[in-house]
Amino acid sequence: MSPVVVTAKVSSFDLQVMNRIRTTLSTTIMMTAIETPFEAFLNQHDEEGWLAAVTTLLRSIHEVDKTATQIWFSFYPFGLFTALQQAADPEKLARELLLQGDYYLKNQIDSSHKFIYGHRYWAQVKKSVEQYVEKWNGLQSVPNVAQAQAPDTSLADHILEVAQIVARELKLNPSLLVGITAVAFMTVRQTGLEAFTASPGKVLIDDKHARKSPNQILSARAKDDSQGWLGFLKTVDKKWTVNHDENDDSANYKLNNAQDLAWGAEADRSRDWRAMDPRRVEGPIPVECRSASCGTCWVGVIGGAEKLSDVAAREGKQIKKFGYIDTTEPKPLIRLACQAQAHGAVSIVIPPWNGVFGKYKRPNADR
Ligand code: FES
Repeated sequence: MSPVVVTAKVSSFDLQVMNRIRTTLSTTIMMTAIETPFEAFLNQHDEEGWLAAVTTLLRSIHEVDKTATQIWFSFYPFGLFTALQQAADPEKLARELLLQGDYYLKNQIDSSHKFIYGHRYWAQVKKSVEQYVEKWNGLQSVPNVAQAQAPDTSLADHILEVAQIVARELKLNPSLLVGITAVAFMTVRQTGLEAFTASPGKVLIDDKHARKSPNQILSARAKDDSQGWLGFLKTVDKKWTVNHDENDDSANYKLNNAQDLAWGAEADRSRDWRAMDPRRVEGPIPVECRSASCGTCWVGVIGGAEKLSDVAAREGKQIKKFGYIDTTEPKPLIRLACQAQAHGAVSIVIPPWNGVFGKYKRPNADR
């Protein structure tokens, strides 16, 4: 008598589910095995938790970094990080989301925040975060001490505490350090403590720019181009400066009144932009469609947002679809450069990646 062979039918859906469970389990086991108590604390916070912490901190952040800090958190979204981290095949997901450029914070631990004023204190902030974490992890390994620690100390409170430690050390106003410290905490969350500690902690701006005071930077952002003698009579032929790196005096281009930011950038042939970033095919701002369809040209507006045209219906709809910002504000801090028309000098920051992430975050939203 021949043996009876029982063949279980496994559908491709079952296989996908099994693979997903296997991936989740192995990720969980790996994270549990290497996670320090501090990382475990950070990991308790989801996207909303981080958003709440940043919102709480805003009132403690100096004017010079209030917008910059929010732009940074838009440039390195926690939702995109977790989506890629949890994906069975992150490269496949990146292709599905049409991601281009460098969307991993782990590749930019010292450089991602160069546009934040607090960047000039990065070496001290990074060191203080590491010392704080070391102390935290040491205390948490002593059961009675760990229990005695206030369990309801919030993420925002811990960030403020580190900012105050650095402020005392450097004899600075803590408000100058809160934004960059929040960035450091999120960088630990997205890159892991080991990679964070291993990065050199370099400050990437020169001494001349590092010496600038917050007030000097704020007044430069508020300044408009002189239109010359009798400039007040000019109507259509006004020209405005767009700065795209406040730490580089040559990172400027001029545009005509009411020209969009991307159109004005196209004429800037001062450098080999494409060699610096393949997405920069025409000028310093990456562009593709020039019609709010691709999401390539998003920028952060660090100064002069009020001098840009209001967000029109198409830009507002598309920017949500891309996942860059979800707001009804007429002049938000994230814009599509091909849609935002300038009526004065502005200062912008160009993110290192672009993609269409909103449909992943909000799959049931209107497309
Ligand atoms: S260039 Fe495509 S959205 Fe602006």
